Amino acid sequence: MRKPFVAGNWKMNKTVDQASVLVQELLPGLQAVPEVEKVLCPPFTSLMVLSAQLAETGVGLGAQNLHWEASGAYTGEVSPSMVKEFCNYVIIGHSERRAYFAETDETVNKKLKAALAAGLTPIVCIGESLEEYEAGQTSEVVKRQVLQGFKEIDNAIASQIVVAYEPIWAIGTGKAATSEGANAVHRDFIRPVLASLFGSAIAQSIRILYGGSVTAANAAEYFKTSDIDGALVGGASLKPDFLKIVEAARP
Ligand code: 13P
Repeated sequence: MRKPFVAGNWKMNKTVDQASVLVQELLPGLQAVPEVEKVLCPPFTSLMVLSAQLAETGVGLGAQNLHWEASGAYTGEVSPSMVKEFCNYVIIGHSERRAYFAETDETVNKKLKAALAAGLTPIVCIGESLEEYEAGQTSEVVKRQVLQGFKEIDNAIASQIVVAYEPIWAIGTGKAATSEGANAVHRDFIRPVLASLFGSAIAQSIRILYGGSVTAANAAEYFKTSDIDGALVGGASLKPDFLKIVEAARP
């Protein structure tokens, strides 16, 4: 009932030419898996060129961030309508943005509202740190992130949101969460909080992705579970391996 969703977060990697070559390599394989919703999220600088390359291919394009204001004196920032010129998706509140660029649940909430208003599909990232994980605070942290981040969102558009659970200790470390562990967070903590906000039917329709050291070797394990509806992939999305992850998500 929830269409599998796999997104590649390229982070701060690839010049325009390099991005274009990678898309050429990936495109036939991505198009061969129509059962999975696929999105590539390169740096802003590649969006214009990739939007032409991906037009009419069935492969989506996303930005990695946006500002919530429509325009103005915000040096270095990009507005929702500027993102929407090239993309249909946007990553919001990635843990690297929270850690290095002072993003908070409050700014995530502003960005989420602005993204939805611009007609973008937001991929909202949540997840606990190693310290919080070791202190047994995972449930508390993800609940707070969802409750604060998803404040005042209309039920009518809530099902468009995609959530990505990315435990910070699993990102880029090779220490992926177990499929049972991640699925339990999705099923027992995240989806019930979504249900408390939007009702259970909408909560059941929202895709919850897992992210953190997903590889071609471990992806299938996640997709077998009840509540992991796809993946947000970092390192492995920069390689042909990404295709194997997308194929593994086929229902
Ligand atoms: P890695 O797949 O490199 O661990 O990164 C995950 C991530 O942060 C995706 O947003």
